[in-house]
Amino acid sequence: MTQLVDTYGRVHRDLRVSLTDRCSLRCTYCMPHDFAAWLPNESLLTTDELITVIEAAVSQGIEEIRLTGGEPLLRPDIVEIVARINGIKNAPKLSMTTNGLALAKLAKPLVDAGLERINISLDTLSRERFKEMTFRDRIDDVFAGIAAARAAGLKPLKINSVLLRGINDDESAALLKWALSEGLNLRFIEQMPLDAGGIWSRTDLITADEIYADLQQEFTLSPVDNRGSSPAEEFYINGGPEIVGIIGSVTRPFCGACDRVRLTSDGQIRNCLFSMSETDLRSILRNPDISHDQKYEAITAAFHETVMAKLPGHGINEPNFIQPLRPMSAIGG
Ligand SMILES: C[S@@+](CC[C@H](N)C(=O)[O-])C[C@H]1O[C@@H](n2cnc3c(N)ncnc32)[C@H](O)[C@@H]1O
Repeated sequence: MTQLVDTYGRVHRDLRVSLTDRCSLRCTYCMPHDFAAWLPNESLLTTDELITVIEAAVSQGIEEIRLTGGEPLLRPDIVEIVARINGIKNAPKLSMTTNGLALAKLAKPLVDAGLERINISLDTLSRERFKEMTFRDRIDDVFAGIAAARAAGLKPLKINSVLLRGINDDESAALLKWALSEGLNLRFIEQMPLDAGGIWSRTDLITADEIYADLQQEFTLSPVDNRGSSPAEEFYINGGPEIVGIIGSVTRPFCGACDRVRLTSDGQIRNCLFSMSETDLRSILRNPDISHDQKYEAITAAFHETVMAKLPGHGINEPNFIQPLRPMSAIGG
């Protein structure tokens, strides 16, 4: 069986696929509210190109695809994309990370097309704060999206929250109480230096330790074993069975178990969110002088080269760390 193995023995099974760099929100830690450096439409992979890349990746051992962005639900043919991924040979497990705004309309068609799991991002329960953090007055659409995802049978329903100092860092316990009352699986993510606005600051970072300590004030947390390659450290809440996750990407890196590769919406593969280099698949896909089989071969070779070049860690805590040029929205979170 073919596998994507790097020089440190990490086997890559998870491909994060960004479908667009555009988004319907302007989360301050991701992009400035007046961000305008969008990728040109013609540079985005077409659905046929996307499927060719995913088929090639699956043939090399990718078992799981997570659709993301930008906002994946902005892709007009999102239901068709899900159905086509689900229809490929040895279909991978299929999940999505979304802000949920369009789920009221799309949750059921997506599940019918084969979507299995979903993460919905929500950082606050306050309408005012939501507006302040996203520059859009759309918290009700997120709640409607969560309800639609539940009604469509998506389970477990995971919620991603990022805490920002002085903005929503007093909400960790309230978010967890809400998640428990709604039967949702909450995960806090440490803010990473991947924003286009350059607002990230190590001193302002709400760390995994801080989140844990805050939650311990109101709940008793005990570690869940068998983390595997999951980025989240999970804890039983008050003895379980409910759990909460904390993703300490900056202060508690989990690179040693990383099994992820990323495909940007303009067809570049990256071996890490923080990688300073990319491998261009779009030029292979659009090369008029080679056959489909030759493209397929070149793409599989590119996946192996990219994985082989992966560094042992993301380097955020090294003195010579340089933030990648692409923001999170253009890489795919
Ligand atoms: C980039 S978004 C893309 C998918 C979708 N638009 C959404 O909101 O979930 C994916 C996840 O990345 C998180 N994210 C974005 N920028 C981040 C940053 N600088 N640090 C940590 N997480 C970030 C978001 O909160 C979200 O949960």
